[in-house]
Amino acid sequence: MSFKLTDEQLMIQSMVREFSRKVVAETAAERDKTKEFPADNLKKMAELGLLGMMVPFDYEGSDSDTVGYVLALSEIAYSCASTAVVMSVHNSIVCESILNFGTEDQKQHYLKDLAMGKYIGAFALTEPEAGSDPVSQQTTAVKDGDHYIINGTKRFITTGKNSGLVIVTAKTDPEARHKGISTFIVTRDNPGLVVGNTEDKMGLRASDTTDLHLEDCRVPAADMLGKEGEGFKIVMKGLDGGRIGIAAQSLGVAQAAFDAAVKYAKQRDQFGQKISKFQGLRWIIADMATEIEAARQLTLSAAAMKDSKKRFTTQASMAKLYASEMVNRVTAKALQMHGGYGFTKDYPVERFYRDARVFTIYEGTSEIQRVVISNNILKDKRT
Ligand code: CAA
Repeated sequence: MSFKLTDEQLMIQSMVREFSRKVVAETAAERDKTKEFPADNLKKMAELGLLGMMVPFDYEGSDSDTVGYVLALSEIAYSCASTAVVMSVHNSIVCESILNFGTEDQKQHYLKDLAMGKYIGAFALTEPEAGSDPVSQQTTAVKDGDHYIINGTKRFITTGKNSGLVIVTAKTDPEARHKGISTFIVTRDNPGLVVGNTEDKMGLRASDTTDLHLEDCRVPAADMLGKEGEGFKIVMKGLDGGRIGIAAQSLGVAQAAFDAAVKYAKQRDQFGQKISKFQGLRWIIADMATEIEAARQLTLSAAAMKDSKKRFTTQASMAKLYASEMVNRVTAKALQMHGGYGFTKDYPVERFYRDARVFTIYEGTSEIQRVVISNNILKDKRT
């Protein structure tokens, strides 16, 4: 499948590119040092419609397709990967899950506010003992009249501290494996939702990653997302879209590292000439550009498949697998091309290198993407 972007998609790309390079880029290095949450970026992004990108106009969204969303997210990631991951989880998992599985009341109540950026959404699936294997989660939700009482601990939650709403999974039937998992919308003002430890991370330092404790957290039954026992499928479908988001994020960081490396190679003199004249480096540049383009095509293809309403699980995992591994290779090569300077904070490539490291880990490791792809090809399950 080859891509001719529509006028609307090109317009989104150029608008977000301009905003990202003027506004988001300005504070990215500083935020990496201070770990300051990009609240002001997100406020401006809400005004531009970037926080409800695939939400229909009726719910205050921008009604973009997934291809437009991928282009926008890549542009934000080009300047600040921390801001991009907040945007990604908020749009791809939280808004989309409520859009696809929420009741009309939930859409009126929560989706509109999310799309307008009144608050940011988070997604709480992972637990201390349940990462790649979310079916083994321990959090429980017990029915109590017209409420559920949730207890448990969630780990590595993006925007755990700075979100206003969290989609939480819990076991409503502990014996039933994946069919015993349900999904709830829990708001920040719920006293039973307690923020725990904040991780001190290698990269994405301006995006908070925290534990969330659910302590006798009373949630109205009306805030269950989907039906009891449907939670696992809801989150798996959410993650299908989320993985396209991580691929888009990978593209943006890779392009930034590549542009920085090309610029440096054209400026730096060694052995009496620009280092860009050496064939050894020229071949590395060619390989980097080719890999970025391959990842772009895979990601856009997965996005277009989602837009055409076909099942896109395999394509999303392929895009996430390839793009996240690609950006780790590309940022490492970009740093190497900068020599000793690449290892310093004087150049942005060391930040790109650190930020990219988690892309092969979150929203399903590379190993899990291979499980998903091979299960779907072989039409059976791994043992
Ligand atoms: N869409 C719809 N249904 C799906 C599905 C999908 N993509 N994937 C699985 N299902 C369904 C299956 O059809 C099956 O249903 P039936 O019983 O009706 O047949 C059911 O779900 C169970 O499927 P599996 O038996 O394949 O489940 P499994 O336990 O073997 O796990 C897995 C499958 C792919 C390994 C899954 O557990 C997985 O993706 N693990 C990784 C978890 C992950 O990505 N965590 C990321 C945390 S969030 C995060 O990082 C966000 C952030 O903050 C940045």
